Amino acid sequence: MTQARTAPRQDSEPALVILPDPAAVSRAAAERFAAAAVAAVGARGRADIATTGGSTPVGIYSQLAVPPLRDAVPWDDVHLWFGDDRYVPRDHPDSNVMPVDQVLLAAAVLAGLSGTGATGVDVELGIEPGAPLPVANVHSFPCGQAIAERLGSAWCAATYADAIRAALSADEDGWPIFDLILLGIGPDGHVLSVFPGSPALTSKDLALAIPAPSHVEPHVERVTLNPRVLDAAREVVVVSHGAAKADIMATVFGGVLDPARWPAQLVRRAGVTWLLDAAAAARLPGRDAADG
Ligand code: 6PG
Repeated sequence: MTQARTAPRQDSEPALVILPDPAAVSRAAAERFAAAAVAAVGARGRADIATTGGSTPVGIYSQLAVPPLRDAVPWDDVHLWFGDDRYVPRDHPDSNVMPVDQVLLAAAVLAGLSGTGATGVDVELGIEPGAPLPVANVHSFPCGQAIAERLGSAWCAATYADAIRAALSADEDGWPIFDLILLGIGPDGHVLSVFPGSPALTSKDLALAIPAPSHVEPHVERVTLNPRVLDAAREVVVVSHGAAKADIMATVFGGVLDPARWPAQLVRRAGVTWLLDAAAAARLPGRDAADG
């Protein structure tokens, strides 16, 4: 386990962007997604982006599902991956894939139709929300198959690791290089499904099955990528909002550095961007309550 040490020097800290409200945070995150996709497709012909779970991505997907961002993303060459998931089928309310299906994807894509995402009319927008991301480009952990065929969560994780290795290039240590990883922060300071003291912190496996946590909801088994992928990624953007995150943000950015206890501190480093709203940032060290 990593030992606790004092907080890093200021010049090794991440970029903290504090925005007025959750909508502004979602908008900024969606813009980072679009920019990363454009840059990666321009440079390498495809973009591999790992998304996050929890409630945070819904606002991001809502922004990506409508113009102008929908029209800015080269969807055909975007591949969407998941940093973690709950060990449930894709259509389960706890699934991290369900918001992708329900909020991000165009109905036409889901139906296997034209894939243009512009086949209907929304009264307010004049267009039907939904991104024309090909269904085949949504790479989820095969939880549904593992459950249906009783293959187990370890098989699910290992199969996903194989799929990632087959699709992505790797760094010199063999860890896959995502163009962008979006991350949420749990109330206990977890990232991905890497909880405090997690075996994932010392594992060499690219993906792991994690027993159901009892201290955070939902109390279901998880599958997660190894947090080492956060070091290998070209870009990592942390997205978090709401007053309920204020205490953990204060701890993560406090004076003691102990990533084994607060895994979110793995991305408290230069090169990572944290997009927070004022409520989540209200108790950050050095920030006056009046700022928020
Ligand atoms: C999980 C999630 C988790 C999530 C954070 C933030 O399985 O628990 O994937 O890592 O990203 O808990 O959750 P919110 O977006 O709801 O704040």
